[in-house]
Amino acid sequence: MSNSIQEIKKEVEGFVVSSETELETFRMRFISRKSVIGELFGNMKSVPAEERKAYGQDVNALKDLAEARFQFHIDNLKSGSKKVENHADLTLPPIEDHFGSIHPLTATRQRFIEIFERIGFNVSSGPEIEGDWYNFTALNFPENHPAREMQDTFFIEKNPDIALRTHTSSVQIRVMENEKPPIRTLSPGRVFRNEAISARAHCVFHQMEGLYIDKGVSFADLKQTLYHFAKEMYTKDTQVRFRPSYFPFTEPSAEIDISCQICHGEGCNICKYSGWVEIGGAGMVDPNVLENCGIDSTIYSGFAFGMGIERITMLRYGIKDLRLFTENDIRFLKQFSSL
Ligand code: PHE
Repeated sequence: MSNSIQEIKKEVEGFVVSSETELETFRMRFISRKSVIGELFGNMKSVPAEERKAYGQDVNALKDLAEARFQFHIDNLKSGSKKVENHADLTLPPIEDHFGSIHPLTATRQRFIEIFERIGFNVSSGPEIEGDWYNFTALNFPENHPAREMQDTFFIEKNPDIALRTHTSSVQIRVMENEKPPIRTLSPGRVFRNEAISARAHCVFHQMEGLYIDKGVSFADLKQTLYHFAKEMYTKDTQVRFRPSYFPFTEPSAEIDISCQICHGEGCNICKYSGWVEIGGAGMVDPNVLENCGIDSTIYSGFAFGMGIERITMLRYGIKDLRLFTENDIRFLKQFSSL
């Protein structure tokens, strides 16, 4: 076997093909008519007659080898791409998709805003750390008045007092100071009270307060607005009742109850077998508050209300423990994935 046949044989055997381009190089070099092996066939005539037979056999064997290697490389390339395609093992259980979803409190806040936007309310916000004026004094809490203790305040500094806001009524003061009536605004936000954490109370929760100031706004407007709200947030047959109450910033003031959404009046432990659940407070804005904000209380009147978004949400979805909202338990949150 001549030297060059030996060399080409080694070359064929050692040639690495890992791409279509290399496969084509292999084909050009060893398979095509103009390949080195093709040349060897061309040389046949110049081989002495007595060696020709052996030479022919060697070149033919080399040609067979090259063709076999070529087919091998083709198969190899194909199975290589198949390996990638089959990377996913179809017999395994599918990987779960962990798309996040809207938190139930967010869903309730959005629904709140939707309901009130349609009756002309905008949305306002303010800081979570407030001075005494916005959280208390402008809202007609007299100094040293026990009403300040109704809201167990987290103070950051004393004299002058700086505190975590205990309600979003502070936002309403900011709106009244900066805007002229008519005012119709919703103030959602996080509020803070020094309360022990339990199924019904938390030191951090969310409020939705509402304020409507214009000429001739009456308690009838307040009631109609909240009737409308209750029927939109819950069902058309939801009942609302008002109980006399006290807040420094409203006069008269009321506690708002709705018919229990869990037992529908049959009696359950959520409504403590009364059929009614308290959802917030409301009242006619005290004239002192209007005057504190530079609004003439002889011309304008208004109503305000405040509700806990957690409470509204619990009644909406039958959630029995307020702590679930902040524990981030995926089993809880997943139940709201359709929101
Ligand atoms: N700010 C009151 C609270 O947090 C709720 C409220 C708002 C009551 C407006 C009456 C009017 O308790």
